Amino acid sequence: MRKVGILTSGGDAPGMNAAIRAVVRKAIYHGIDVYGVKNGFQGLIDGYIEKMDIGSVGDIIQRGGTILHSARSEDFKHDEGQQKGMEQMEKYGLEGLIIIGGDGSFRGAEKLTKKGYPCIGIPGTIDNDIAGTDFTIGFDTALNTVIDAIDKIRDTASSHERSFIIEVMGRNAGDLALWAGLADGAESILIPEKQDELQEIVDRLNRGQNRGKKHSIIILAEGVGSAFGYADKIKEQADLETRVTVLGHIQRGGSPTASDRVLASRLGAQSIELLLNGEAGKMAGIQNNRLVAHTFADVLAQKHTIDFSMYQLSKELSI
Ligand code: F6P
Repeated sequence: MRKVGILTSGGDAPGMNAAIRAVVRKAIYHGIDVYGVKNGFQGLIDGYIEKMDIGSVGDIIQRGGTILHSARSEDFKHDEGQQKGMEQMEKYGLEGLIIIGGDGSFRGAEKLTKKGYPCIGIPGTIDNDIAGTDFTIGFDTALNTVIDAIDKIRDTASSHERSFIIEVMGRNAGDLALWAGLADGAESILIPEKQDELQEIVDRLNRGQNRGKKHSIIILAEGVGSAFGYADKIKEQADLETRVTVLGHIQRGGSPTASDRVLASRLGAQSIELLLNGEAGKMAGIQNNRLVAHTFADVLAQKHTIDFSMYQLSKELSI
């Protein structure tokens, strides 16, 4: 193999740059030329492609976002868009393509692989919602951003004796909410995978109040619904002063944590190994701290689940 391409696709995630760096350096280490595709699959269609060298990935390991920029391409979902992408791969002589992104991106990668253009996926999303890997690049950084924000909110919640409902990202997955809730000792965690009855949440808040607890933190995963809607429901049933904070895209930015940088470096390097070993059509992942590879078909067929024992623990610790 002499030439490969790399792109980032879907929502950006801290650590994507560290993964790009690892892919480029590992490929060059093996004597392979690397071409960066800007703007995800849309950039592949549009031929937005440039050769990368060792220096082009210098000083980026600590930077959030993605130097290759990202996009969610509608065009690439259709045969015509994929055809244009393949023509660009032919034009630049790309014998393989590394895709850093989430499950939507892997659907595109699977299609390209089936059409004879070998692809390898690297899981990069703050949602941690990909099957076949314990962690996705960006999750740990986003989690730390959420925790930092909640710590600050707790200060004001305590001063004013208020209950805060904090909405975090995660799409249809509850990982960010669950891990943040455990790490921050939230009174209640609402996740799409398992939902407490509203009455249970209200009872827990009331129990806390009766014990003299004057403020509380409720973390709601966006996949459950709107934090504002929940705040109204809680206000109807409990005598509490409530406030809502939607953390939003702040969760997607920032310098990646050490853990994300290391994960990105390991998965980035692994993706080149997989391509070289002829294992196209797979996603590099990490399970029990070991590098693994699963076919796109398996990754996309399985459903990511949360660790239910952690959910149970969060309830036991916030009785
Ligand atoms: O998948 C990452 C993510 O940040 C989700 O948590 C969120 O639902 C979505 O992307 C937001 O997408 P956009 O940046 O397009 O608004």
